[in-house]
Amino acid sequence: MHSLFRRAVYAVALLGVIAAAPAQAHETLKLDAPKPNVAPTPPMGWNSWNKFGCNVSEQLVRQQAEAMAASGMKAAGYQYVVIDDCWQKSRDADGNIQADPERFPSGIKALADYVHSKGLKFGLYSDAGSLTCGGRPGSAGHEFQDARQYARWGVDYLKYDWCHTGTRNAEAAYTIMAKALRESGRDIVLSICEWGTDHPERWGPTVGHLWRTTGDIYDAWEGKKEWSHGMTNILDMQAERERPSAPNAWNDPDMLEVGNGGMTTTEYEAHFSLWAMLAAPLIAGNDLSRMDADTRRILTNADVIAIDQDPLGQQGRRILKEGDLEIWVRALKGGEQAVVLFNRGKTPADMKVGWDLLRLPAGQKADVKDLWSKKLTKNVIGSYGGKVAPHGVIMLRITPVL
Ligand code: GLA
Repeated sequence: MHSLFRRAVYAVALLGVIAAAPAQAHETLKLDAPKPNVAPTPPMGWNSWNKFGCNVSEQLVRQQAEAMAASGMKAAGYQYVVIDDCWQKSRDADGNIQADPERFPSGIKALADYVHSKGLKFGLYSDAGSLTCGGRPGSAGHEFQDARQYARWGVDYLKYDWCHTGTRNAEAAYTIMAKALRESGRDIVLSICEWGTDHPERWGPTVGHLWRTTGDIYDAWEGKKEWSHGMTNILDMQAERERPSAPNAWNDPDMLEVGNGGMTTTEYEAHFSLWAMLAAPLIAGNDLSRMDADTRRILTNADVIAIDQDPLGQQGRRILKEGDLEIWVRALKGGEQAVVLFNRGKTPADMKVGWDLLRLPAGQKADVKDLWSKKLTKNVIGSYGGKVAPHGVIMLRITPVL
């Protein structure tokens, strides 16, 4: 969802960051106030960018909030309705950020109130640079003013991007906004969107609640376009990043593409399953008002969501890779485990996970639930598996019988 102009400004911004990084001196503010406990499990919601890009308006956001409440998404746990780039237009004479008056004639406060009236939470986007990636006013130099404004409007979630940041140091820049938000008088999730350029896993856990690890996802099984990547390319970039991830500190492999049309239903099941294994924020990026049955079934699969939201908050990891076949495992609270048998190949594959890989005693009995077929098999010993469709998964919850 990038115009040529956006691509150009983005590339210049990235070059600026790379060129300026080594020589830079900076001072990082001290964060006195604690990080609010607003993301003990990965945030769940919807964001406008993947489907709508800059084409945002108050009608769209109201429609998506209504659909979230009515479609079963809210009941499944989705709560944040986040407007991404392009809601902003200008600053007034006092520097106050102004929404685009044509697209948001009732103003942001009224929209936040509406979203809240549906029992949902409201999020906005800004950028640590002079301009956002879409060329709208950024928050550089206005962090405290913007954070106070967000709090007055009733913002619950801020996605904070990294375009047009010149020679800024990422940790220092995000720390300023973190401090501003924490002093705003409202508990606000800080979603760091710095694309993994300056080791956000080192400082992100202190500063924000989640941090992007890579460039943007796009709606394809695999591929690469400049700074955007297909789903499996993004997945590969998450391997071995599990250590810093924890409650209120999540790796963010970018938002979901489920339902946007560029992948098959089987591929979207794999995408959703793997994001749950990664303890990823589940931020839907499709049109919630026009979901087909498969999209709704995938996005509201309660068993898969329960893996994502497991209270232990430990990200899963890839424990086996043999060509196109992979096994991903995630430890869950109370000694349970989630497993994904993932077939990246073009033909069906017989796959199984052995108890040795799960560090279970060979004779251990376990109940195994297949989270897509919903089949429950009791007292399994030794291993479990089945035929995995091309580009598909079998996802399991394994409960040792004590
Ligand atoms: C960057 C971000 C995207 C999106 C766009 C908006 O590319 O990584 O997620 O927010 O900017 O312009």
